[in-house]
Amino acid sequence: MKGIILAGGTATRLFPLTATTSKQLLPVYDRQMIFYPLNTLIKAGIREILVIIAPEHSGQFLNLLGSIFKKYGVRLLFEVQKVPRGLAEAFIVGEGFLDDDNVALILGDNIFEDDFTRQIKKFRSGGHIFAKKVSDPERFGVVKFDAQGRAIKIVEKPKDWLSDYAATGLYLYDHRVVEAAKKLAPSERGEIEITDLNNFYLRKKELKVTIFDGEWLDAGTFDSLLEAGRIVKQKKLYKKFHPIVNRAIAEFNLEMKNICKKKLI
Ligand code: TTP
Repeated sequence: MKGIILAGGTATRLFPLTATTSKQLLPVYDRQMIFYPLNTLIKAGIREILVIIAPEHSGQFLNLLGSIFKKYGVRLLFEVQKVPRGLAEAFIVGEGFLDDDNVALILGDNIFEDDFTRQIKKFRSGGHIFAKKVSDPERFGVVKFDAQGRAIKIVEKPKDWLSDYAATGLYLYDHRVVEAAKKLAPSERGEIEITDLNNFYLRKKELKVTIFDGEWLDAGTFDSLLEAGRIVKQKKLYKKFHPIVNRAIAEFNLEMKNICKKKLI
């Protein structure tokens, strides 16, 4: 299983904050947002991770992440997505990296309280997504279940109410996802939609949907960014980080402090 973090996009809802840096480099309590999805993947034992970034702030990503994970056996690679053409483009940008392996895609602005290690390690084929009950389902890809709790339909931002379950930003797929993504036509909003990939697996009866209860934050608005920091502090989520991630962050901090000291001398 390889990992992809989708950390590009335009982040218009966070302007002007994101005029000077990338959304995924903004702070969520005491660390940059990108460490949360990184932690989810590293916790699950994934050691090859592609980070997809936008061109504007790519140097900042390299500065932060470029060398701190190497000595822990975590291989981080970077690809630039010039234009944000939709979430499903992750598999087209990442085709060479994936090389027929299974993949866990996580959105760079998604913070999960739950640990999905068991599901990620168990995954073999098909698709597996994670749904959560929300109060504003019209903002997301929405999963409709039948009376037996089986997923029967997924609709992107439905205008009419369909269900309260949103598909969240963690997706597991087998190698067929690359070819499926290449065949997608853009939606009305001009993006290739991950919902269409989920429906590809659903039609084959190969999509598993797990409902979870823990906190889920997509820190893409001022309110959700603030809420993310508050919840991380209140629930001490930073204490649940994998030691590799904590050590890498600590070393980065030390390195920066030493550089600052040298500049003062
Ligand atoms: P969104 O929040 O849907 O988009 P955005 O980050 O551009 O923000 P806004 O709607 O405010 O303009 O994206 C979810 C995540 O996926 C986020 O981490 C950015 C990333 N993303 C890409 O990397 N490439 C893309 O083509 C898209 C659409 C999103």
